[in-house]
Amino acid sequence: MNSKITVETIRAMKARGEKIAALTAYDYPMAKLLDECGVPMLLVGDSLGMVVLGYPDTTHVTMAEMEHHIRAAARAKPNALLGGDLPYHSYETAETAVADAKRLVAAGAEYVKAEGGKEILPQVKAIIAAGIPFCGHLGMLPQHVLEEGGYHIKGKKEEEHQRLIADAKALADAGAFAIVLELVTLPVAKEISQMISVPIIGIGSGPDCDGQILVTQDLIGAFPWFTPRFVKPVVSCAGEIKKAVATWQSAIGVAGK
Ligand code: KIV
Repeated sequence: MNSKITVETIRAMKARGEKIAALTAYDYPMAKLLDECGVPMLLVGDSLGMVVLGYPDTTHVTMAEMEHHIRAAARAKPNALLGGDLPYHSYETAETAVADAKRLVAAGAEYVKAEGGKEILPQVKAIIAAGIPFCGHLGMLPQHVLEEGGYHIKGKKEEEHQRLIADAKALADAGAFAIVLELVTLPVAKEISQMISVPIIGIGSGPDCDGQILVTQDLIGAFPWFTPRFVKPVVSCAGEIKKAVATWQSAIGVAGK
């Protein structure tokens, strides 16, 4: 049996210059399968709102839904480090951030992730002071999609570039063990990965981050109605499901579509 992945394992991977693979898992079978593939870092992301629950964006996801899915993924008892997203509106003050982070930990999360930089620093510090490992999330923040009017690339403007650097430094100094960097321009993502000592896990931010994270459904073509531009699915699970159902329908004498 492989040894349990911890926050220190993930930090040590950056120190050794080893790339970090991270994927989302929202339930028992996916957490078990990805763990069997040796993926060291799993996330019950609030992207579950779109790719599992059918919401238009992550702002509809509740604490109860996060807890339910974290419990399911945690039953796989992965060697991988398993984390969970603090959903929209669950970390508006340091008090609610700690209370809600504790609920996710009680459900089985070994780290929590929340979106934002300096503006959520009191919450981040309080979560870390409560002994809960924290992963930051900078760049395009999906929980702000409605205010921002879409999913836009960050770091093109000098002001955004400087803010990203300041936020990444602030989160690392506060004790975040890793930072997800979403939809950030390639040079800015590279600069932050080189400058900040904690692992920078990119999504749509180019190849120069310390690691990469994807929504598993995007990678395996299991949510065919929308695929982000930066993902090339390596297989079409949706297509395979349709083929399997057609084969079965024909075997039992039912005409499919
Ligand atoms: O919600 C999510 O799945 C995420 C990752 C893809 C970074 O935040």
